[in-house]
Amino acid sequence: MKPWLLLVLVLLWSQLENGLGQETRRRQEPGETRTRLSGKRVKGRLPKLKEKESAGRAGSLLTQVLDKGRFLRLGNSLIVQPGKDLELRCKGAKVGWAYPAYLDTYNDSRLSIKQQDKYSQLILTSPSASDTGEYSCWPVLCDGVECEKDPDRTSSTYIYFTDKDELFVPSTIHFEIVYLRPDQPAVVPCRVTNPQIEVSLHREVPPEEVPVDGTHISFNPTKGFLIPQPRPKHMGVFYCKAATKEALQISNKYQLLYVEVPSGPPFVTIKASSSSLKGGDNLNITCTVLGEPEVEVDFTWTFPGQGQRPVDIRESWRLISRGMGHTTRISQSVLTLEDMETIDFGRYICRAKNKYGETSVATHVDPL
Ligand SMILES: *[C@@H]1O[C@H](CO)[C@@H](O)[C@H](O)[C@H]1NC(C)=O
Ligand SMILES: *[C@@H]1O[C@H](CO)[C@@H](O)[C@H](O)[C@H]1NC(C)=O
Repeated sequence: MKPWLLLVLVLLWSQLENGLGQETRRRQEPGETRTRLSGKRVKGRLPKLKEKESAGRAGSLLTQVLDKGRFLRLGNSLIVQPGKDLELRCKGAKVGWAYPAYLDTYNDSRLSIKQQDKYSQLILTSPSASDTGEYSCWPVLCDGVECEKDPDRTSSTYIYFTDKDELFVPSTIHFEIVYLRPDQPAVVPCRVTNPQIEVSLHREVPPEEVPVDGTHISFNPTKGFLIPQPRPKHMGVFYCKAATKEALQISNKYQLLYVEVPSGPPFVTIKASSSSLKGGDNLNITCTVLGEPEVEVDFTWTFPGQGQRPVDIRESWRLISRGMGHTTRISQSVLTLEDMETIDFGRYICRAKNKYGETSVATHVDPL
């Protein structure tokens, strides 16, 4: 193995071990109902890949209000200088809107939406490069009290708020994790604030520019670099470089991790510290799930002395590197019972649930 590769693996390993694991611990008292213990999510998000069909230019419901009562019907994209307030209008007596999630996350008071008789008005004051993204609207159809989005009439436009000092759309996450899966396209989300900016993709170690051939890797200014068929060779730390005539800028860093576990219900194993014990002994039962790095697992236990005996339940998870940078999340729940009594012998069931489904496993603890 090449020395640099070993170093990367060691660094990655220590980062995963120290930085991303998280543990929760609490005591469960008799009769107490269990509340959900959740691990903190790994920061890292994959932008939506779904392409929206936008209504053709002629049919667009969206217009931008310019000075002196002039209107501009919006097409697929719009490039504006930041600083000036943005006003969009969307035709319809009842209208729904979508805009960059960032504006909702920070409950931004710069954004206001008002429904008028025949149109809805979206105003964004003091827009900046961060507001770059897709803005869309659609008529809402109501039948009595039930309302729904008119699926065929969504109008969308991607608005770039250009800024010579922010060539990349600023992000609050400075070191993002991008998961690569063999069966799904991946995106290195370095979006730009002007589609004319030239962008290149770079690997940090060894330092090299990644060739962008438009097939294996391509660039889309509204998304970033797309890798349609991720492979283990795409792993590593990457950044994007943007160049204009005046400036050169470097994006945040992205850690690309290869995920080998397919999506599905948890893969669970259960193990008791001992399957036969005598009264007074202590017991540990460990329920382990191997899964995708960013998929949270929720554990529930069913056991003989439930509600009558105090148990300690400790949950934890960490990411491990399984050779060549393949990453797996190990989630564990450990049930500990001290000083076994007659009531404690019997069947211990661990139920593990993730967003794809649920798996139960059981083990028996018998008296010696
Ligand atoms: C958002 O801000 C408005 C006014 O500033 C406030 O009334 C509202 O409760 C806030 N919502 C959330 C979810 O923080
Ligand atoms: C149960 O786990 C705890 C913590 O890892 C350990 O200290 C203890 O010795 C274990 N008990 C048994 C019976 O294996």
